[in-house]
Amino acid sequence: MSSDWVCQKPCPYSQKMETRALGKSDLEVSTVCFGAWPIGGGMGNVDPKQAADTIHAAVDAGITFIDTAEGYQTSESVLGQALKGRRDSVILASKLSGPDHSEKHIREAIENSLSALNVEYIDLYQLHTPQPKWPIKNTMEILMDLKKQGKIRHIGLSNFTSDQTQEAMEFGPIISSQPRYNLLFRQENPTLTFCKENQIGVIPHSVLAKGLLGGSYKPGHTFPKDDERRLFNFFQGELFQTIYEVTQQLEEWAKSHGRDLIQLAIAWALANSAVTSAIVGMKSVVQVQNVAQASTWKLTSTDLSEVEAVIGNLQPEWIKDQTPEDLPYRFGSY
Ligand SMILES: NC(=O)c1ccc[n+]([C@@H]2O[C@H](COP(=O)([O-])OP(=O)(O)OC[C@H]3O[C@@H](n4cnc5c(N)ncnc54)[C@H](OP(=O)(O)O)[C@@H]3O)[C@@H](O)[C@H]2O)c1
Repeated sequence: MSSDWVCQKPCPYSQKMETRALGKSDLEVSTVCFGAWPIGGGMGNVDPKQAADTIHAAVDAGITFIDTAEGYQTSESVLGQALKGRRDSVILASKLSGPDHSEKHIREAIENSLSALNVEYIDLYQLHTPQPKWPIKNTMEILMDLKKQGKIRHIGLSNFTSDQTQEAMEFGPIISSQPRYNLLFRQENPTLTFCKENQIGVIPHSVLAKGLLGGSYKPGHTFPKDDERRLFNFFQGELFQTIYEVTQQLEEWAKSHGRDLIQLAIAWALANSAVTSAIVGMKSVVQVQNVAQASTWKLTSTDLSEVEAVIGNLQPEWIKDQTPEDLPYRFGSY
C-alpha cells in the first residue's frame, strides 16, 4: 500500500464529476459516493493493494465522498492507510453501527473510527440503524457534544423512516439520510419525499442492489463463504431468475443508449431530485472507471418511462427471514 500516493495530474474524470451541497450543510459532495463496505471484505476478500488502488482511482476520478462504518470489518483502517496525506481531498462519512447506543459505546466508537481512519474529525457521522431501545434524545445529545468537540462535523441518519427522522431532528440538525434505494427496491420512497421537503440530503445505499444490477451474476451462481450475498434470497431460486430476466432487458435498454446496466442503475438513482449522491460499492479500478462515467448520464422523462415499462410489476422484497446473526460479520451492511 503506498503512503506517498498523489493524484495523477490531470485527473482523468474530476472535471466531469459534479458536486452538490449535502442538505443544508457546507459539505460539497461528489454525485457518486465511494461505498467502502466491499473493500472492507464484506462481499468477499479484497487484496489490500487492490483496495488501495481502487480508493486512489476513485479519488482520481473525482469520487471524493466516501462512506464507511464502524461495522464494515477492515474498511476504516484500509481507508486510513490509503488516504494518508490526502485527508483534505475527501469528505469522509462513517457510522455508529450495532445495537449499543450507550454513551460509553458511542464515545469509544468515535475514538476507534478516528484512529482507524487516521483523522482528527469525521465530516458526516451517521446512525447506522435506528435503535428504539435507546432514546434518540440521549443519542443526539451525545452526537451534538461530539460535534461541539470538533470530532464530527455533521450528523446523518441511515435506514431511518420519516417519522424516526422527524423525531431525531427535534434534538439537532440532521443533514442527510441514507436509505436503501435502487431500481429494484424502492420501499424507502416515502423517506426520500420527506427528506426533499425538509432539505435533508439523500445518499441512497445499495444502488447496484448488491451487484444484482452489476450484470455479472447468473441464476445458479454460488457466492463464497465470506461474501454476504450467499445468504440473500434475491440471489437464489425463482426470485433471482425473475429479477435476472428483467435486468437482462434493462441491460439491453442501456446498451441501446451506448451505456451499460451499472451506469443505468446509478443514473436512475441520480435522476430522483431528492437524491444528492448515489453510494456505490466498488472493488477494482475497472469498476471505478465504469461507475465514474455514470454521473454524466442525465436520463430524460422519456427514458425514465421506458425503464419503468421494462420493470413492470417487479417489486421484490428485501432480505426476509434473516437475522444479523446469520451474516458473516458483526454489524455490517445488509
Ligand atoms: N447504511 C446501510 O445500512 C448500508 C447498507 C448497505 C450498503 N451501504 C453503503 O452503500 C454502499 C454500497 O452498497 P454495497 O457496496 O453494499 O452494494 P452495491 O453498491 O449495491 O453493489 C456493490 C457491488 O457491485 C459490484 N460492482 C460495482 N461496480 C461494478 C461495475 N462497474 N461492474 C460490475 N459490478 C460492479 C461489485 O461486486 P462484485 O464485483 O463482487 O460483483 C460491488 O461490490 C456500501 O459500500 C456502503 O457504503 C450502507
